[in-house]
Amino acid sequence: MQLRLLSLLTLVTLTMPAATLQKSDFGKTPDGAAVAIYTLKNSKGMEAKIITWGGAIVSLKTPDRTGAMGDIVLGYDTLADYVAGKSYFGALIGRYGNRIAKGKFTLEGKSYSVPVNNGDNALHGGIRGFDKRVWTARELPGGDLELTYKSKDGEEGYPGNLTATVTYTLTDDNRLRIHYVAVTDKPTVLNLTNHSYFNLKGAGEGDILGELVMLNADQFLPVDAGLIPTGELRLVDGTPFDFRHARTPGERIAQTDEQLKLGKGYDHNWLLNRPDMNPGMLSLAARVEEPGVTGRVMEIYTDQPGIQFYTGNFLDGTDKGKGGKIYNQHAGFCFETQHYPDSPNQPKFPSTELKPGQKYDTITEWRFSAK
Ligand code: GLA
Repeated sequence: MQLRLLSLLTLVTLTMPAATLQKSDFGKTPDGAAVAIYTLKNSKGMEAKIITWGGAIVSLKTPDRTGAMGDIVLGYDTLADYVAGKSYFGALIGRYGNRIAKGKFTLEGKSYSVPVNNGDNALHGGIRGFDKRVWTARELPGGDLELTYKSKDGEEGYPGNLTATVTYTLTDDNRLRIHYVAVTDKPTVLNLTNHSYFNLKGAGEGDILGELVMLNADQFLPVDAGLIPTGELRLVDGTPFDFRHARTPGERIAQTDEQLKLGKGYDHNWLLNRPDMNPGMLSLAARVEEPGVTGRVMEIYTDQPGIQFYTGNFLDGTDKGKGGKIYNQHAGFCFETQHYPDSPNQPKFPSTELKPGQKYDTITEWRFSAK
């Protein structure tokens, strides 16, 4: 009897919704496809809004030190703006996050060409990457949101019919977990990430230059003029790329430094120090703190080997954001957990190849609090 009660209790706890999930319409794409917006809300009042266009996080409300909720991600008010947008606000990126040099790579002896959409290089999965597709949503028990996108063999030049499934989970202890799973029917390359721009003061509340950033990385990847890694792994020691102890980006971003000049600020991949290299084991990649009025803290945990820390260098005020706010340069920063850019052409980097029969399976978790 006692045992039965216990198992009943376990069952109740396991099936208890961590978050509530609510669906509304978010309009139609130019070719007539309906787009939905899902609101995930936990018992603490934290809330994430996600649209099926690009699987994008369009709003993320987390508490400040007084408990007041504020939206900390950049985005637009309308679907039309997301369709036209070029900044990847909040979106899922695929098939290949960041750049592939000249849009060319060789896989199992075959050469592939993918569209070049960023100078001489391919960026973020092409002209119409996963950020510009409608994902199929499924509401999971427990309030999780599952999004699936089936990418056809040859789409944007990439081989293999690929099914990508991304599950967003909002927990009661203020964590947003992103679980990426994918399978393919031909050898391909894959590097999925999420391209949210954060400002812990609140979206549209000035720039992020004064927010404290810690990156758990001893090395980063220097780049060339096209922002392709040169192949060198450089120690951060003694450079403006040393964020092993919390520093603000503003402190050194304007220093005379060849790499900062090439990136127009920080736009590089750091090699995460990972105490546990077991797949599926999360470790702390980054910590961000807004030391001013809000005291908001975000910790990023991942099982990925790298993080692209990008300080919104290309934002130039042309994006009209939520509530009519203008996003100028450095209005937000991105922490794209991922494999290294251009891995398909860099044999020394961890492989991004996915073969039939293998399962791409990775988790990134953002943990929110306030100090
Ligand atoms: C990534 C890139 C940047 C830029 C943004 C999108 O972070 O590394 O160079 O292209 O995406 O604007």
